[in-house]
Amino acid sequence: MTTTRQVPLASPWLDEREEELVLEVLRSGRLSLGPTIDRFEELFAEVVGAPYAAAVSSGTAGLHLLCITAGVGSGDEVITSPYSFVASANCAIYEGASPVFADVDRRTLNLDPAAVEAAITSHTRAVVGVDIYGYPCELDELRALCDRHDLAFIDDACEALGARYKGAPVGSHGASAVFAFYPNKQITTGEGGIVTTHSEEEWRLLRSLRNQGRADSGGWLDHARLGFNYRIDDVRAAIGIGQLEKLDELLAGRAAVAARYNELLGGIDGLELPAADDADHERSWFVYVVALPPGVDRERVIAELDGRGVQTARYLPCIHLQAYMRERYGFREGLCPVAEEMSARTLALPFHPRLGQDDQEYVAGVLRDALTASYSPA
Ligand SMILES: Cc1ncc(COP(=O)(O)O)c(C=O)c1O
Repeated sequence: MTTTRQVPLASPWLDEREEELVLEVLRSGRLSLGPTIDRFEELFAEVVGAPYAAAVSSGTAGLHLLCITAGVGSGDEVITSPYSFVASANCAIYEGASPVFADVDRRTLNLDPAAVEAAITSHTRAVVGVDIYGYPCELDELRALCDRHDLAFIDDACEALGARYKGAPVGSHGASAVFAFYPNKQITTGEGGIVTTHSEEEWRLLRSLRNQGRADSGGWLDHARLGFNYRIDDVRAAIGIGQLEKLDELLAGRAAVAARYNELLGGIDGLELPAADDADHERSWFVYVVALPPGVDRERVIAELDGRGVQTARYLPCIHLQAYMRERYGFREGLCPVAEEMSARTLALPFHPRLGQDDQEYVAGVLRDALTASYSPA
């Protein structure tokens, strides 16, 4: 009997080093609020070139906390990208604000600054820029327009650890940013996230908010403000340290896999590959997402690939067209035409730092066949 080759969508790279670091924590008895978290935060801050970092339980928690420190509240509007993960918009809703979606640039799939500017009203409080698929957003333009209109800027860099904008790491430019560590990310802690900031005051507030509103000074049962349990624990921080120690290797592995896909898929007629780096933008490879040629039936491609053991994902559905968004805010098709078109055509292929050349050749071959079989002229 022949078995079909199976190529998973993602796979974390963990080894003996993470096991060793986790064991150290387990044996220390300091499972939470211990020194391993401080070490992880210091290492992370250094890697992204930010003076302060506060680790949290998830990327979503980090975005929520930055909405609070930005003063987002009831009646406010927060502008973000429709072509992102729902947390980029949910973080504002948690604080009683309404999400507003500005369309994206067709090449980068990141917020188009002109569309953001056009979406600003007297209720706008903040802009959440997203570095989608690890490609840096237009940080300078977005921050400049936020300054002009007296808005807060939050960088949702959950997918962008290791990316560089204008030659310097995302996280180092002065904007507060959030990174996430779910197992498909550049580094993982299982679940987890971190907020980087250039303000000591904001950092202290973040540490309090994640820890039930306790102040740095004061007792365990003294609460200075309304807070949350958004803490990470030392076990997860230990995994994070192990991951950061081999960050260069992890990122290089991802870049090599992406380069091979670029070669293997470059000649397929009508298939659009991820935006290339340019002088201002250097991607950190998070996922490998292609846009299928117009006229191709994506569902059929997915089914063909699945039947031959190749896992894919429909990255990313538009946030404004999710059921709860339609019901709550009345969003409909046509609000963000570029995001909607690209969202209907894009597809994530198997991608992780140790994906082998033979697997990639297999994926490319199966994709070619699937595209030929799934072309349905309008
Ligand atoms: C762009 C973006 N924002 C926010 C998040 C939320 O991170 P988490 O899953 O850690 O809450 C993710 C992670 O999937 C993401 O990709």
